[in-house]
Amino acid sequence: MGVLFDEKSKTFHLRAKGVSYIFNILDGGHLAHLYYGKSITEDFPDLFRPSNRAAFNAPSFENYSFSLDLIMREYPTYGGGDLRSPAFAAEKDGVNFCDLRYMEHKIYQGKRKLEGLPCLYAKDSDVDTLELTLFDDLLNLKVVLSYCVFKNYPVISRSVKVINEGESVILKNVMSASVGFDHMDFRLMQLHGSWARERFVEISPLKHGLLSIDSRRGASSHALNPFMALASPDCGENCGEVYAFSFIYSGNFSMQVEVDEYDTTRVNVGINPFNFSWKLDKGGVFQSPEVVFCYSDEGFGNMSRTFHDLYNNHLIRGKYKKSPRPVLLNSWEAVYFNFNEERLYSLAKSAAEIGAEIFVLDDGWFGERNDDRTSLVDWYVNTQKIRGGLNPLISKINALGLKFGIWVEPEMVSPKSRLYEEHPDWCLHIEGRNRTTARSQLILDFSREDVCEYIYNTIRKLLSEHNIEYVKWDMNRNFSEIGSVKYAQGEVPHRYILGLYGVLERLVSEFPNVLFESCSGGGGRFDAGMLYYMPQTWTSDNTDAISRLKIHYGTSMVYPPSSMGSHFSACPNHQTGRVTPVKTRFNVAITGNFGLEFDPANLKEDEKEVLKAGIKKYKEIRHLLQYGDLYRLKNPFVDNAGAFMFVSKEKDEFFVSFTNILTEANSPLKRLKLSGLVPGYVYKNVDNHEIMSGSLLMNYGLKIPHFSGDFASYTWHFRKI
Ligand code: DGJ
Repeated sequence: MGVLFDEKSKTFHLRAKGVSYIFNILDGGHLAHLYYGKSITEDFPDLFRPSNRAAFNAPSFENYSFSLDLIMREYPTYGGGDLRSPAFAAEKDGVNFCDLRYMEHKIYQGKRKLEGLPCLYAKDSDVDTLELTLFDDLLNLKVVLSYCVFKNYPVISRSVKVINEGESVILKNVMSASVGFDHMDFRLMQLHGSWARERFVEISPLKHGLLSIDSRRGASSHALNPFMALASPDCGENCGEVYAFSFIYSGNFSMQVEVDEYDTTRVNVGINPFNFSWKLDKGGVFQSPEVVFCYSDEGFGNMSRTFHDLYNNHLIRGKYKKSPRPVLLNSWEAVYFNFNEERLYSLAKSAAEIGAEIFVLDDGWFGERNDDRTSLVDWYVNTQKIRGGLNPLISKINALGLKFGIWVEPEMVSPKSRLYEEHPDWCLHIEGRNRTTARSQLILDFSREDVCEYIYNTIRKLLSEHNIEYVKWDMNRNFSEIGSVKYAQGEVPHRYILGLYGVLERLVSEFPNVLFESCSGGGGRFDAGMLYYMPQTWTSDNTDAISRLKIHYGTSMVYPPSSMGSHFSACPNHQTGRVTPVKTRFNVAITGNFGLEFDPANLKEDEKEVLKAGIKKYKEIRHLLQYGDLYRLKNPFVDNAGAFMFVSKEKDEFFVSFTNILTEANSPLKRLKLSGLVPGYVYKNVDNHEIMSGSLLMNYGLKIPHFSGDFASYTWHFRKI
């Protein structure tokens, strides 16, 4: 395990758990990528293959078959013959050309933090790091490639640091990593979506040419998640090879897949180079975000479980890391903007009666906010709605045995606000251009230190003056006029994210007992970057149980169930108008981080009893649901059902939630084969005491009952005896 280097062949062999990653230094100092995949026993196999093809841009007549264009490269630059998509480009005096060659390297135990950015963390004994410095001697520019090799996971994380020792340059592209494969025999899996249907799984064959899965929206976005996987054609939930890439970043990103004329596949992952430029003066340093490479030879299921454990153990921080996540009731779908303190109190009372643990006051509590047209940035209570202010309300809610949480959208400013009148230049804008006010709001310029300082102080004051134990941090806009009075346009989106990360870091460190949940019009910024600061994310504004089957299926590809905010809501559903049984709404909601988003007083008595009993049981097993191993047993994108199974780490307990979508008359008898159990263990159904072995459960399976009516569901809970 760790990082090996052979002086003679100039070969590096990075060994993570079950994984080999091999590259070498060519004569002349360029790096050639050689292999990434399942572990190889030889330390330094001879893998470099000189090309037998004619290069149209060979550097010399004598060696016509060598060109940078014909090899797999470790960190390709723009300039010098490689005409595929570069990972790095720097411009000086109007010339875009960079030639990076090996300078030195060091190998050490442990993993460094990335300055100002979210990143994985680990004990020194768990990770070995290779830092390899490349150098352009004309520009006097150093580029340090970092590889962190995880010993207990099939994971290598990568990032890049640029150090300028020469005159000013403009960085045009700084990808966090690049990797090559000498074939194109892959299926590309990506998570696409939109508002209310986030992270839908899409799988397609690779084609020649360049594809970019990316965002230019200022946030990681609803449209495409900063994740993709290259999978072998036979890959499924439990079999086949997967090379997955997850970017720990919340802004504009690009994951490029390019297949060249010789069927070589190149992957570049990093900050989106579109309209990116960064002036790096002499002595300046630029740090890229971190990208996680995860390998699985047991399909997508194993890939997801690796990501879940990695992110639970090495990304998510603070008090709520690995601890039971509380059941919250969020006021949004219950009352929207229409409430006063009495209405809130009655809602909190019914929340407490049914078993909630936190009452969250969503939008509408501040400034003059009675709809979504005003008051963002006026983070003081609207005493016309909440007479007496927040503190008396919080005390009363606390007296019900509930913690109190609050919604904020701190990155925004309403044009109708005192702050905007005083500081019209504090939002992103371009002089002389119209300012887009989607949702009647402008985006504060978080690239500016003074704006960040103001917002930090405002939220700090709110949290210091009230007993607030949960914060929902929302962000409901995409960037439009990307401009700042302080910085060049090409720097603004990344500086914005750095500013945001800075504010979040200060707030989460100062308020370690507060549970933060991120949100962006539902799941528009569900990414690993945000999880570093806020351990959970509101998965989607779509709370419909049947829609959630797909949303949870896709989101769980990368992100752990503990991070996926998932609420039981009213019927008919507010987003789809669909009517679903109480049990189904509950059984699906508990496959994420469970909460409530309706007024329990509106339930019929018998329904209330079902929900109350369900919540009681959920609290007993939530550790299993939030931190157990997840197995996706049915794929709602292709099956007429969704099924999620949670198995304890010891494999001595499991829970299955199965939802049938449309019912059929006279349907065949169906079974549900389980996964992840020990064949020789004997398990007992907690509810009906049925006894079954692991082998019976995994090979024959559970008998799916006949369902009458659409959208029915069923759960099973077994313990080892
Ligand atoms: C968008 C969020 O996703 C919703 O849950 C809710 O908080 C609204 N914003 C409030 O404006």
